[in-house]
Amino acid sequence: MDLVNVYSQYEISPIAAKGSTIMLDNGDNLLDFYGGHGVISVGHGHPIFIDKLKAQLDSLVFYSNAVLNPLQSELAGKLGTISGCPLYDLFLCNSGAESNENALKLASFKTGKSKVLAFRNSFHGRTSAAVAVTDIPSINAPINKGHEVVFAKMEDFEFVGATIEKGDLCAVIIEGIQGVGGLDEPSTAFFKFLQSKCTQYEVVLIVDEIQSGYGRSGDFFAHQRHGIEPDIITMAKGMGNGFPIAGLLLKKGWEIKKGMLGTTFGGNHLACSAGIAVLDILDTENVLHNVDRVSNYLLEELKGLNGLQKIKGRGLMLGLEFDFAIAELREKLLLEQKVFTGASSNKNLLRILPPLTITTAEVDVFVQALKAALKNLNHG
Ligand SMILES: Cc1ncc(COP(=O)(O)O)c(C=O)c1O
Repeated sequence: MDLVNVYSQYEISPIAAKGSTIMLDNGDNLLDFYGGHGVISVGHGHPIFIDKLKAQLDSLVFYSNAVLNPLQSELAGKLGTISGCPLYDLFLCNSGAESNENALKLASFKTGKSKVLAFRNSFHGRTSAAVAVTDIPSINAPINKGHEVVFAKMEDFEFVGATIEKGDLCAVIIEGIQGVGGLDEPSTAFFKFLQSKCTQYEVVLIVDEIQSGYGRSGDFFAHQRHGIEPDIITMAKGMGNGFPIAGLLLKKGWEIKKGMLGTTFGGNHLACSAGIAVLDILDTENVLHNVDRVSNYLLEELKGLNGLQKIKGRGLMLGLEFDFAIAELREKLLLEQKVFTGASSNKNLLRILPPLTITTAEVDVFVQALKAALKNLNHG
């Protein structure tokens, strides 16, 4: 049997990882400034994370949602406190797309409407409604095109206001900071405008924090910087530090009927253990403080770098925008300097999403590697 060939891949094969270091089968070590696409939050192989999962493996891996699972309540309680969102309720599922799919479905159940306002350069996942609100036509199959979606430019107050005022939307969906689209973040004024218009016209405001959440921006959720309270917050990547777990937070007061949402695997015992371990580490090791500290250090160290035009994003969700296409730079970083970084739909933007536990010493290694790679490109 062959694998379905859908991924563009590097010819490298990790066999182990610790902290921010990935070990390959050929004996090489890589510095992980990509975090498996923003997934690694508390670092590879964190001992608390590993011990918790091992203990859970020895007792109970899975039982379905037909029974009580106190780990789910423990996770919700800790998440409410640590995220600063105690006035939300939690539904657990398995992936980012599923989280957005459920959020959009709930918005439609609530309002009885089906049209959604989404944004240019958005990415919300690959399931039916999630991909329909994703601004990448090539990954929308004809079956996805039946959804009613209007795309707006971010910060286009006039068009967005007029679209919401028509009164036929069930939801507005927006990323806390755009990931795949290239690290653009809506302004505080725009977020506040969305919230007030959505409240006025009874439209559900969904903020997709799947990539920007769980401390990656330096705030637990990126939108918290802007003083808004969305109706629904979706989350995934950093939540399980690599173990598949996702969820949505619903502002308290939703009328949910039994059976409206459901999943076989979502919220299973092993997934909850991973989620709880991540929250414990974020809390006890003050990881968000590390994000701010290391991010500020990195920004200082990058000052004056040749060819670097702009730095987008914040915390440890950063886009380094150069005055040239970065594909070759990214490859040189990986193959020659042994540093793994990311890309985005902006061809000039190098995306960095390291574990949130990286150190300033690792930043030094990254910056030296970047300078060396730039030199080899004759841009340094
Ligand atoms: C902002 C955002 N939303 C949704 C998704 C989809 O998540 P998943 O791949 O877990 O379905 C992603 C994945 O990259 C994302 O970055």
